[in-house]
Amino acid sequence: MTDRVLGIETSCDDTGVAIYDSDRGLLAHALYSQIKTHQEYGGVVPELAARDHIRKVIPLVDAVLAQAACDSDSITAVAYTCGPGLAGALLAGSAVAKGLAFSWGVPAIGVHHMEGHLLAPMLEERAPEFPFTALLVSGGHTLLAQVTGVGQYTILGETLDDAVGEAFDKTAKILGLGYPGGPAVSRVAEKGDPKRFKFPRPMIDRPGMDFSFSGLKTFALNTVEKALLDEQTIADIAYAFQDAAVDTLCIKCKRALKETDSKKLVIAGGVGANLRLRQQLEIMMSDLGGELFYPRIEFCTDNGAMIAYAGAQRLHQANTDLSFQVKPRWSIEELPAL
Ligand code: KG4
Ligand code: ZN
Repeated sequence: MTDRVLGIETSCDDTGVAIYDSDRGLLAHALYSQIKTHQEYGGVVPELAARDHIRKVIPLVDAVLAQAACDSDSITAVAYTCGPGLAGALLAGSAVAKGLAFSWGVPAIGVHHMEGHLLAPMLEERAPEFPFTALLVSGGHTLLAQVTGVGQYTILGETLDDAVGEAFDKTAKILGLGYPGGPAVSRVAEKGDPKRFKFPRPMIDRPGMDFSFSGLKTFALNTVEKALLDEQTIADIAYAFQDAAVDTLCIKCKRALKETDSKKLVIAGGVGANLRLRQQLEIMMSDLGGELFYPRIEFCTDNGAMIAYAGAQRLHQANTDLSFQVKPRWSIEELPAL
């Protein structure tokens, strides 16, 4: 039987909606970014995020149904992000998803946001096969996992403090580059002088695959305080920060591949859109004789397609209860294996 899943993502500041068909693949996807709403505050304001999601979800559902030229009668399930994320934002998406599922008489499937990211590379033509090692890098998470199947995740290392995306965002703020920070830092870093500043590579002297990124942000702050912050200096600091963050991620990935005896690395999550990270990992994987997999740029950051896809994988074990439980905090290791 063909499954056709409507996916709804509202965990943070992007409203993403998509339709995934188990025979035909991704039929449509649409995204509304809330950047303009939050920009003047320099970061995401949770209450405004929830309100924007409420305004945008239904118009986006209509848009993807039209894009896919399909009728709501053909939708066999509604998947939505039920955690981790901002509670109000999660509730906005889950309420709409459950309402639609109830009125269409189909199941509603609560999806783990990070599982969505992790499985996003499966939407690409060149998709990885299990088992593989995965680097999940977003605004709220930084983790390395061994992946042997859907729901079969062993965390090899995690951040002990800030997520790498968070460190990009905070460094952007320190440099006066505003929100969202990651793309801004990487854009100005292109003009940076690679020799001017050298940032430390946190935790590489310690064994294991855990990360720590809060020190890099402090290093950026100390460097800013000692320098005259002209345009070139901002670019030089951005370069040094990005170089250190990317290098640290590469070193830990190499360790993880060795530990798991794997030649396949998957990167996913917002920071996976970082071109320098992709380039450095490509070089590393070609030196190791392995392969690197990642989603297209727009499916690295939050989107509905990854939720529709993950929902389709979990459809047949879905809990269809219509209560409004969301999980703002939720470890990926708690998910049941398929
Ligand atoms: O996955 P995502 O869209 O949302 C979360 O689940 O958190 O990731 C957002 C994070 C933000 O911290 C953002 O600054 C970072 O990903 N990011 C980037 C880039 N694009 C987004 N970081 C570095 N370079 C980028 N090009
Ligand atoms: Zn995300």
